[in-house]
Amino acid sequence: MRQPLVAGNWKMNGDQADASKLLDGILAGLAEVKSAELAVCPPFILIPAVASKLAGSAVKWGGQNLDIHNSGAYTGEVSGPMLKDFGCTYVIVGHSERRSYYGEGDNVVAMKFGAAQDNGLIPILCVGESLEERAENETESVIDRQLDEVIDAHGITAFANAVIAYEPVWAIGTGKTATPDMAQEVHAYIRRKLATLDAGVAAGIRLLYGGSMKPDNAAELIAQPDIDGGLIGGASLKAEDFLGIAKAAG
Ligand code: PGA
Repeated sequence: MRQPLVAGNWKMNGDQADASKLLDGILAGLAEVKSAELAVCPPFILIPAVASKLAGSAVKWGGQNLDIHNSGAYTGEVSGPMLKDFGCTYVIVGHSERRSYYGEGDNVVAMKFGAAQDNGLIPILCVGESLEERAENETESVIDRQLDEVIDAHGITAFANAVIAYEPVWAIGTGKTATPDMAQEVHAYIRRKLATLDAGVAAGIRLLYGGSMKPDNAAELIAQPDIDGGLIGGASLKAEDFLGIAKAAG
């Protein structure tokens, strides 16, 4: 039985006061969340404050990105050991905003995935197609390309300690959610693909859906057999909405 995971991707939002208020709200409602595991991924600069607030609670935290190197002359970057030092459990890699705005290709994403695991962090690997790619029926080939690079670099067993988030680019921050059927179809495709390499890994890995997930559509999405939670952007910035999704996850 896969424990649902609901992870908040705060992106580049919030200051110390916002973060503190948001976490107070989440912690206050935590008792109503039955089975889902919760995590938040704040901007780097807020991680120390988030870590001290969440220490000892059931809510985990993580980074939104990391560098491929562990240390050195890489101005402006943050490394896996630094995230680990601040108690991160997770780190998002290959988010579509990183891929499109910061030019992260599949090979860099694969290196980041490895850097995360080398430092004891669980990568949340984001994959997903653009609107044009969906229109051209390329969803599966895009997912193949994005996953194959990581599988080739690190092997299927690396996925025993990873999370995959399917985030159709056209659904991110747009208010357009994939229908539960559409999302399930891709999630099932991903799990089948992994199963051809290792049935146990495929059965155990949590596949999150991301893209305009909200309290009112979360239950139906997460009820799909291959959807094990969500990676939440906009709705993770309001405690009530984030908790609403977490409760919908069970
Ligand atoms: P959204 O973002 O929930 O605001 O669509 C999801 C994501 O980018 O992870």
